[in-house]
Amino acid sequence: MRAGAGAAIAARTVVLEPHFAYASGRPVPPSDRVRFGIIGVGMQGNGLLKTAIGLPGVECVAACDLYDGRQELAKEITGKSIATTRRYQELLDNKEIDCIINATPDHWHRKIVIDCCDARKDVYCEKPMTHAVGEGFEMIDAEKRNKRIVQVGSQRPSSVVYAKAREIVEKGQLGEVCLAEGLMGRNDPGGAWQYPLPPDLSPQNLDWDTWLGTAPKIRFNPAHFQRWRCWQAYGSGVAGDLIVHLLTGIHFIVGVNGPPQRAMASGGLYRWKDGRDVPDVHAVVFDYPKLQIYARVTLNTETPEATRIMGKGGLLEIREGVLTFTPQDGLDHGPSFLSGTWPKGQREDYLAKFRADHPYQHDAQAQEVTRYSAPPGYSDTREHLYNFFDAVRTRKPVVEDATFGNHTAIACHMANHAYFQKTTALWDASSKSIRG
Ligand SMILES: NC(=O)c1ccc[n+]([C@@H]2O[C@H](COP(=O)([O-])OP(=O)(O)OC[C@H]3O[C@@H](n4cnc5c(N)ncnc54)[C@H](O)[C@@H]3O)[C@@H](O)[C@H]2O)c1
Repeated sequence: MRAGAGAAIAARTVVLEPHFAYASGRPVPPSDRVRFGIIGVGMQGNGLLKTAIGLPGVECVAACDLYDGRQELAKEITGKSIATTRRYQELLDNKEIDCIINATPDHWHRKIVIDCCDARKDVYCEKPMTHAVGEGFEMIDAEKRNKRIVQVGSQRPSSVVYAKAREIVEKGQLGEVCLAEGLMGRNDPGGAWQYPLPPDLSPQNLDWDTWLGTAPKIRFNPAHFQRWRCWQAYGSGVAGDLIVHLLTGIHFIVGVNGPPQRAMASGGLYRWKDGRDVPDVHAVVFDYPKLQIYARVTLNTETPEATRIMGKGGLLEIREGVLTFTPQDGLDHGPSFLSGTWPKGQREDYLAKFRADHPYQHDAQAQEVTRYSAPPGYSDTREHLYNFFDAVRTRKPVVEDATFGNHTAIACHMANHAYFQKTTALWDASSKSIRG
């Protein structure tokens, strides 16, 4: 071991207090109830619906899905005969509805968010906020023009664990941060989006033409319906599906609210050759004005999800939801091994001087390592939804508005641009577009 590496010895664990959803046990008066409609009751939408109706003072009034089976599911989840439809405009026309949860695939986000804002409904929109770069600026315009609340659904900014990491950075305990990284890996068909197809799906119970939306018109294809992440026509590959979460967490912790200046990427489609047109390994290096971020996702090996923020003052690591802060003081804690290459007299002089100049050298770097975890059963998605509904009620800003969501989405589009065009993607702020 290098003499100066030091040793972090003690460790303590702190269980963090949830801050929003769990803290609010107070009853909500009927006048403060928030009524929402949901558009898209699929894999993510059904979970959001279950969670949202469990929040105090929140009620689901209607559900929209282009596949009739999902309308039936919405009724099963809510346990009541809510209004259901294939036409989301009906939810926007409904005066009883205050806000919308939009859990449709990426290629529908732009239009639904703009339509919601123009109909004066607040909206919780799933990540990635956009399917293409220009869309985000139109969505922000709609949010601001209509004074609406838009919350983007990458839930890490509502997590108490991420909030603690951000606090450590804000207090300067980590010192200057120049590098962060986010890593994630899966190794199973479900993780690689080979989801089972709905057994009864047909053009009779699904409005296929509307589902295609802006995508090229193709014949009814159940795989495209359920495994849409595999095609750029609907999704944004590994970057928009997973790197977006890693980046959202890092941006939130280090206080970045802007696109990267450039992105370089590599990877490939090595394993899941099922007709998809996106990679299953994607590694990206992003340069920001004062920071570099490295992000890597593989669908070919299970690896623990890890986010690391590296500063002169130490290392912050979030691994499987637990934050560990290992302080470092960045000083030499022992004499340099190079002194061993000098003759005795010079070596002794150096060692004596080193000891005089470094009074702390004898007790190796006794820094306390602290681990922070959320309580058992904690859900950052619940907190994120609560943050949204609370903002609908109070008009306070949300933790992840359209501007923030747009910046992480732009980074993901740059990651794809760099990969597909085999180039360095550069952000051109004046034209709000990617060059390179
Ligand atoms: N935050 C997270 O952790 C997380 C996790 C999973 C998915 N997501 C996001 O949630 C979104 C949905 O993903 P999913 O896996 O649930 O997809 P899904 O295909 O399982 O469900 C989407 C549903 O939307 C419906 N739909 C599509 N277009 C519609 C329209 N115009 N009007 C009404 N209904 C429409 C479909 O019929 C389908 O039932 C995506 O943006 C995805 O990235 C987020």
